[in-house]
Amino acid sequence: MSQKERPSPPRKGEDRLVDRFHRQITYLRISVTDRCNMRCVYCMPGQPISRLSHDEILRYEEILRIVRTAVALGVRKVRVTGGDPLVRRGIGGFLRSLSGISGLEEVTLTTNGLLLNEHLETILSAGIRRLNISLDTLKPERFRDITGRDEWARVWAAIGKAHRMGFSPIKLNVVVLRGINDDELQDLAALSLQWPFHIRFIECMPMGSGVASHGPPVTIDEMKVQVAGLGDWTQLQSHPNDGPAERYRMEGAPGEIGFIGAISHHFCHRCNRLRLTASGGLRPCLLADHQFDLKSLIRAGGTDDEIRKLFLEAVRSKREHHAVAAGERTSGQMSAIGG
Ligand code: 5AD
Ligand code: SF4
Repeated sequence: MSQKERPSPPRKGEDRLVDRFHRQITYLRISVTDRCNMRCVYCMPGQPISRLSHDEILRYEEILRIVRTAVALGVRKVRVTGGDPLVRRGIGGFLRSLSGISGLEEVTLTTNGLLLNEHLETILSAGIRRLNISLDTLKPERFRDITGRDEWARVWAAIGKAHRMGFSPIKLNVVVLRGINDDELQDLAALSLQWPFHIRFIECMPMGSGVASHGPPVTIDEMKVQVAGLGDWTQLQSHPNDGPAERYRMEGAPGEIGFIGAISHHFCHRCNRLRLTASGGLRPCLLADHQFDLKSLIRAGGTDDEIRKLFLEAVRSKREHHAVAAGERTSGQMSAIGG
């Protein structure tokens, strides 16, 4: 064989998910449904805009195929989100298959907690240990006003049970809303003094139809001022796998707190993720509207190699920063993209 005919060895980085800004993509967030049994004011107030039909949603086997391809390209961590993932039928079996994919090091789940109690055993037996649960308030009436469901106690009980069953870490997501729950940050942060929970204060992002509360979003700098009143916090070292939270712990506390300031302190330079939407779109950025249509490719008989190429294309299209800091609003619906 002449020199010319020999297949050229893959160039460095060619079959790994590295973007134009040298960011390596190792994390895929998967929305398994756009449906939800809550109506959080910052996400989908009122009626859902338009629910995807059964056919429009990726089937579990399709998602698993996509994940296997992603893992072959270097993805090591997957988060399952929604809508609320626990409203989708067959989620237990799916989580088990997902956890069984070799090469995948971490599978985590984000849920609103409403159906968590009855799914905990299944989630545990699927091998998942890490949970993110929304908890925007410690006041039951306020919980009802924010989520549309009068179920604070049910969610709190499920969080306690998850803790007793050994799930760890349990991260509690608080979307901070001006004039709605921004007077509770100390109380929420104080949970970390009593429990090994990670309380994560999140800036409200302007997504789809979600209302961004009264006035401009509460920035993480404002949040920190409030929480500082509780005592001395020590900042924790961030590891590359930690994600975007700036983390703090109070001396001797079992838990910790974190701040996620996607808008005021965008962390795009450390971005390591792609998103798969419920309808099979591969999205390079939560806050940018463009996406790649994996579902059509798969349903038209696309090969694994074509899926691979679409991943590489999506990664190479990642922009350096998101545009929301500049005042743009994305039209994407958080419940279909997955937060
Ligand atoms: N801004 C910030 N976070 C949001 N989430 C949902 N909508 C928004 C928004 N507009 C988060 C919630 C939920 C996760 C899935 O996404 O914290 O826990
Ligand atoms: Fe449902 Fe989560 Fe959206 Fe709330 S934020 S409506 S729980 S998808």
